[in-house]
Amino acid sequence: MNKKEFVLAANWKMNPVTLKEAERMLDGVETGVARLGRQDCGTSLNVIVFPPAVYLGALEKRKTIPFGIQNIGWEWKGAYTGEISYPMAENVGCKYAIIGHSERRRMFGETDETVNLKLRSLLQGSLKPIVCIGETKEEKDEGLTAKVLKEQIRTAFEKVSVLALPKIMIAYEPVWAISGMEKSAKSEADSPDNVMSAAILIRKTLFEIYRSDVVSKVKILYGGSVNGKNVDGFIALDALDGLLIGGASLNVFEFLTVARKAYEGCQITLEKIIHQ
Ligand code: PGA
Repeated sequence: MNKKEFVLAANWKMNPVTLKEAERMLDGVETGVARLGRQDCGTSLNVIVFPPAVYLGALEKRKTIPFGIQNIGWEWKGAYTGEISYPMAENVGCKYAIIGHSERRRMFGETDETVNLKLRSLLQGSLKPIVCIGETKEEKDEGLTAKVLKEQIRTAFEKVSVLALPKIMIAYEPVWAISGMEKSAKSEADSPDNVMSAAILIRKTLFEIYRSDVVSKVKILYGGSVNGKNVDGFIALDALDGLLIGGASLNVFEFLTVARKAYEGCQITLEKIIHQ
């Protein structure tokens, strides 16, 4: 039986403010996810937590679920104040790294070029990258979504070997849909239909670059205001392999609601596959 793996990545961003609270959140997530995992349904839900980097070492000692780092430098070591390199992240037990998050692009000057440097650096080690892409509200309103996504992918994947693709995930995160981005307005998730079109476009763009079936191995996630109420529409999408959750991952109960729905949704998808 083919296992369908669904990725649920919890991006805690710059939260919580104390290690104690981070430990409490992690305990809750671990207990809840372990309960889900005990029911054997032939699917696998891969829950990954991205805490603030300063907590990684402490949390790593007591974790049962994989961890990732929210950002990474592209150099190995040296005079780069404030940066953390991939061997350092590996050394404290990280398995994944987010690169090119729109908050880093918008507030900390990341560009498609630095995303490419980070991606190529990461691929020398064992961390699995989640490359974030997505259009702004203005770009969407001007009908530029496809152009922007293609450009972001082409530049990010420059000089990246086809052999590396199975390690890489792409998170489609429309900037306007991310909660907390627009301080004045309440952000809303994109529609599952739009997300499906974006996922198809992303895979098509990868195929144009690589001309290889290996592109089917790249996992495509969606992120932007996903919560327990709207998650079902995204789980049902065959074109989607997972979700990147920000705000809703800070509330353990809410996150576990998403996890439970993802777990059940994977079962339904698997049944569909078996009975086809
Ligand atoms: P959000 O964030 O779920 O709070 O919108 C998602 C993200 O930024 O990764």
